[in-house]
Amino acid sequence: MIILGIESSCDETAAAIVENGSRICSSVVASQIDTHSKYGGVVPELASRMHIEAVDPVVHQAIEQAGITIDQIDGVAATRGPGLIGALLVGFSYGRAFAWARQLPFAGVNHLEAHIYSLLLLESVPQFPFIAMVVSGGHTNVYHVTSPQDFELMGRTRDDAAGEAFDKVAKMMGLGYPGGPVIEAMAKDGTPDAIQFPRSMLEQGSFDFSFSGLKSAVSRYLHLNPSLNKQEQSDVAAAFQAAVIDVLCQKLINAAKQKKCKHIGVAGGVSANQTFTTTLKARTKPHGIHIFSPPLSLCGDNAAMIAARGYTMIKNGDLCARDEDVYSRVKN
Ligand code: KG4
Ligand code: ZN
Repeated sequence: MIILGIESSCDETAAAIVENGSRICSSVVASQIDTHSKYGGVVPELASRMHIEAVDPVVHQAIEQAGITIDQIDGVAATRGPGLIGALLVGFSYGRAFAWARQLPFAGVNHLEAHIYSLLLLESVPQFPFIAMVVSGGHTNVYHVTSPQDFELMGRTRDDAAGEAFDKVAKMMGLGYPGGPVIEAMAKDGTPDAIQFPRSMLEQGSFDFSFSGLKSAVSRYLHLNPSLNKQEQSDVAAAFQAAVIDVLCQKLINAAKQKKCKHIGVAGGVSANQTFTTTLKARTKPHGIHIFSPPLSLCGDNAAMIAARGYTMIKNGDLCARDEDVYSRVKN
């Protein structure tokens, strides 16, 4: 079964062709980062307009790169949320119209479930049940995934998402948007324990996160030390990054222990952070836990993961009615 996936929840217009939920025939991502970086973050109205311009060419590029014809597509899947509503409407409406015109089944995909499915597109996949973390600019969610359809939300951020904290700290330091990659690069020259930033673990047994205290601590530090040299800036980046990573790793290990899972998958933009995945691997190894993380091309937003999730939904008859709203059924 050949599925066309479409993603437009934030600042990437993406389309992909995936066969039988696992073979990526093509995956095209048109990023808007250059436009939004001028404003230090995503401007929703600009994002929607750029999706409108990009969606049709990106879909046709995906079909062409897959070496198929439109008639070979068996089903369509598009992101229905969570995300920016104007941005979502573009890909969702395009996908539903495309499916309707061709009498094809159409699935409205939850973006976070799709990030978990990026782990199922790997050569070696985690075995059910496993712990999954979707860690991105908008979310820091921990799930107990017991089947391809069952995602129990164990914890989430109560304020900023981890990626958002990276972006905001980068902004405070005048490093531009998105903050994650630049902070990670800078941190390589810094000493993580040069500064002790707080690690918020919240109540005992909680799998929730809070990064606003850490963000304020960095802000205070920068305020008290206004003229840092390059080395000192790298130390701030390294110490901040270490604080985020410590909390993410500890909560993941706690979750795996509680649910007696030996497999953990991390997905979403922040899972591109090599320091995070390397640290997580080192800290979980003594517990016999195996870590799965997608290649860079599948860490950030992409449509291959949307098509993969859409494939199981279409196979199970979990289709989107013609009159369903874009955001309906999106809870987390
Ligand atoms: O999943 P994603 O592409 O978009 C959504 O938010 O859904 O994630 C983007 C986020 C941004 O906050 C960005 O700063 C962060 O992922 N990010 C990183 C890295 N690369 C991207 N954070 C830390 N280290 C990285 N290398
Ligand atoms: Zn995402």
